[in-house]
Amino acid sequence: MTRILFVCLGNICRSPMAEYLCRHLAAERGLSQIAIASAGTSGWHNGEDMHHGTRAVLQGLGIDAGGFCSSQVQAADLHHYSHIIAMDDDNLAALQRLFGGAHAHVFKITDLVPELGYDHVPDPWYSGDFDETRRILSAACAALLDGLQQVE
Ligand code: 4NP
Repeated sequence: MTRILFVCLGNICRSPMAEYLCRHLAAERGLSQIAIASAGTSGWHNGEDMHHGTRAVLQGLGIDAGGFCSSQVQAADLHHYSHIIAMDDDNLAALQRLFGGAHAHVFKITDLVPELGYDHVPDPWYSGDFDETRRILSAACAALLDGLQQVE
């Protein structure tokens, strides 16, 4: 079974958007054997709901944004997930510290969509641009699912 974990800093803006978008896209494609979750490297917002900007984007796409609870990535996640996907280089470095080095299934999401010209997903917590986040994550999640369907 494919198990995907999206990771950002706070787990309230980018990675929850990736989680809910990707789950929605997977369901649209009839892909049922994929488990999708998200977590933050910091743990700063543990137990909180997603940011209202992320919720607004999801609701604008007709995606139910209910049931979210922010959490922190754990060392044991390395072996639980088949894909651990960071939003930026800081997230990736934090994961490599936590996991004790680099691992092939731990990578940066923008590597899936080099044609977009981004080397990270800018953080809307600072930029306020949740629509930019949506554009990058929609393309990246589609590319991720394309890749998974090719190896099916
Ligand atoms: P995220 O954004 O990593 O995309 O969830 C942030 C959320 C919260 C903070 C920073 C970034 N913060 O400083 O609390």
